[in-house]
Amino acid sequence: MSSNIVKKFPTVTHISQYIAKMITGGIASSGHGDYFSIALAGGSTPREVYSYLATIKDNPVDWQKVCLFWGDERCVAQESAESNYRMVKESLLDHIDIPDSNVVRIKGERDPSSEATRYAETVKFLLPHENNTPRFDLVLLGLGEDGHTVSVFPDNILLFHSDKLFEATKNPYNRQQRITATGKLINQAAVVVFIVTGRSKAGITASVIEKRGDWKKYPATLVQPVNGELIWLLDKEAASEFEREL
Ligand code: 6PG
Repeated sequence: MSSNIVKKFPTVTHISQYIAKMITGGIASSGHGDYFSIALAGGSTPREVYSYLATIKDNPVDWQKVCLFWGDERCVAQESAESNYRMVKESLLDHIDIPDSNVVRIKGERDPSSEATRYAETVKFLLPHENNTPRFDLVLLGLGEDGHTVSVFPDNILLFHSDKLFEATKNPYNRQQRITATGKLINQAAVVVFIVTGRSKAGITASVIEKRGDWKKYPATLVQPVNGELIWLLDKEAASEFEREL
């Protein structure tokens, strides 16, 4: 069962500093020749975090020892403004020295169903396994105001329980096709981190973490690492509706 750690920070920069230390610490404790595997979050929140990681001067990340994956992707061209890959490329990849082979993107331009299968096979091949399932060192997640995470939305919450590692699905609000990791993969990770900022996320954040209101409808509540840590990194605005003192 996972531990549920909730940390409040003054700003997203403080959150970024914390994540940077998690990554550099993870690299330091990785075995010789191993790499530190990260499934990146999409959306807009993590952009500032990735930009910070790209510009660290003291104790920078050794990107030669990191492999980057995505937890979900929009089924668009990589050049599209909607692309999670493009967001990471602009904020991080274009500013760091990381081997191309260490960047394993979801090919959103391909047929969603076959790409979900291809990417799952790629992740299975590249990652170490536990319980016959690929195990990420770190999964970064965002949280939608409706309680979705990656691209598992409340209208299709059962997708989280798929026996596949990745599924093709749709954003129910604009019918945009998506490829998403499922709970089978996410809950096998060593560490899962939600990054949530802003006043608009305060209500849903408190509902998910404190299991208030319609919490059972929210896919984010299903993130429960079976043998790992669950850590919430919140700025003070996102943490502003907590009943208990953080
Ligand atoms: C995506 C993400 C999605 C995102 C949340 C929060 O591709 O959009 O996987 O789960 O993390 O919707 O998005 P914001 O950070 O933009 O609020």
